[in-house]
Amino acid sequence: MPLDGKLPDIDTSVAHPARRYNYWLGGKDNFAADRESGDAIAAAFPGMVIAARENRKFLRRAVRFLAADAGLRQFLDVGTGIPTTPNLHEVAQDVDPSARVVYVDNDPIVLAHANALLTGTDQGVTTYVDADVRDPARILAEARETLDFDRPIGLTLLAIMHFVPDADGAHTHVAELVDALPPGSYLALTHATGDFIPPEVVAEMAKRDARSKSPVVDRDRAAFARFFDGLELVEPGIVTVARWREDTEDGDRPADETVSLYGAVARKP
Ligand SMILES: C[S@@+](CC[C@H](N)C(=O)[O-])C[C@H]1O[C@@H](n2cnc3c(N)ncnc32)[C@H](O)[C@@H]1O
Repeated sequence: MPLDGKLPDIDTSVAHPARRYNYWLGGKDNFAADRESGDAIAAAFPGMVIAARENRKFLRRAVRFLAADAGLRQFLDVGTGIPTTPNLHEVAQDVDPSARVVYVDNDPIVLAHANALLTGTDQGVTTYVDADVRDPARILAEARETLDFDRPIGLTLLAIMHFVPDADGAHTHVAELVDALPPGSYLALTHATGDFIPPEVVAEMAKRDARSKSPVVDRDRAAFARFFDGLELVEPGIVTVARWREDTEDGDRPADETVSLYGAVARKP
């Protein structure tokens, strides 16, 4: 059901990342400003809708890897987004119903939909924290109420850090979250990049995104890799989200220039 006009505390005057992403994924929880911005960016970069969907497929494969192969039973997901089936807890609890998940986002529309994220199994736990990734101390304090920081945790930061510029301390905030995790924990992170797109297309996308609430900051491979400093990348290392363990995904894999999002998973030694 379209939400237009039903949630007065939500700012509908500019595009918001959570709602525009929901539009690209084919959801209904978005407003005119989100759709206009989403269409304008997709007109400049036709791979956008495929990229958004591939990012979501990465989430499924990465969380399944973390739960089934790495044996994790606890997850801290920052920048959760509007509920989209399957949600992270559904993937993790499909492997083990006792998995515990803390979701974090700073957008009021995600908070408004949080109940749909709190539908886990009887054996597991899911909780929601309304917080900003630029406030890691608060996120960690709240997460400690649900997760045991003496046991490995999967920290997932999927398609969020490109909304945080260097001037806001993007790498420092991620490092602070990773520092708090015990050895054997993992970081999974995906991020927009201009590395595969002609510079004039990158510039046009930035122009069309400039008025949105959080304009995207593309990062190159070296800047992306810095999020994983001190961690051990698992195979296949840093690739576009569509290429990460692509053999476990059905269907044709889109080209890197279509996807334009880096993805990687790494273990904390
Ligand atoms: C593109 S969506 C990605 C959703 C989901 N992680 C996924 O990959 O499918 C980005 C999410 O990050 C959230 N976000 C952006 N900046 C944030 C910040 N500074 N703190 C917390 N959440 C933020 C947005 O509200 C949005 O829900």
